[in-house]
Amino acid sequence: MKQKILSNFIVFEGIDGSGTTTQINLLKELLTQKKISHWATYEPTHGPVGRLIHSILEGHLNAAPETLALLFAADRNEHIYHGQESINYKISENKLVICDRYLFSSLAYQSIECDFKYIADLNGRFPLPYYVFFLDTPLEICAKRRDARSQSHIFETHTYQEKVIGQYEKAFAYFKHTDLHIIRLDGTKSKQLILEDVWKIISGLPIVKK
Ligand code: TYD
Repeated sequence: MKQKILSNFIVFEGIDGSGTTTQINLLKELLTQKKISHWATYEPTHGPVGRLIHSILEGHLNAAPETLALLFAADRNEHIYHGQESINYKISENKLVICDRYLFSSLAYQSIECDFKYIADLNGRFPLPYYVFFLDTPLEICAKRRDARSQSHIFETHTYQEKVIGQYEKAFAYFKHTDLHIIRLDGTKSKQLILEDVWKIISGLPIVKK
């Protein structure tokens, strides 16, 4: 089935420590400065399913890999469709929605322990963003940043992260024949230069131009 593309929706992806959250925060500031109506959000969410996911990631609860994949899909379903704090609703209000992680994270992380097709099918009905920005940051730089953080979770091992990089490539190849725009960003650049690269691209979007 062809996945619908939402023109006012953009997503940041990358391995843990690649800088997605930093870019979302910088972009948020820039959009506010430029008075462009937007909504910044993230996955896993802090809704009921998202909180359950966080407990599993932190190691307080245990679940089978397929169960975790189903939970990420359930959390995403809530995030896209449920209520006024949802992607669909904010888009209907003509806001530019910027999201830290989306279904590409499920394709990259969950497909290590589950069948890729299983994850693709679970996420096959969700809409796609117009742009996916992939922060291509070397494994070693990401590891150093993660070491400096106080919290860590079950996926934050060198071996797992190395596999995630490979699975991101597989995920992007999966969308090769679609209209999805996948933009790779050089994660070794300074955060301001990365933001400039992002801005050059999204400033062409009708919602930003007007
Ligand atoms: P992260 O953005 O790092 O959250 P926090 O800042 O709270 O640590 O996301 C948590 C982890 O969840 C990260 O390793 C990526 C992973 N993840 C998946 O495995 N599948 C998914 O579908 C999503 C959205 C995230």
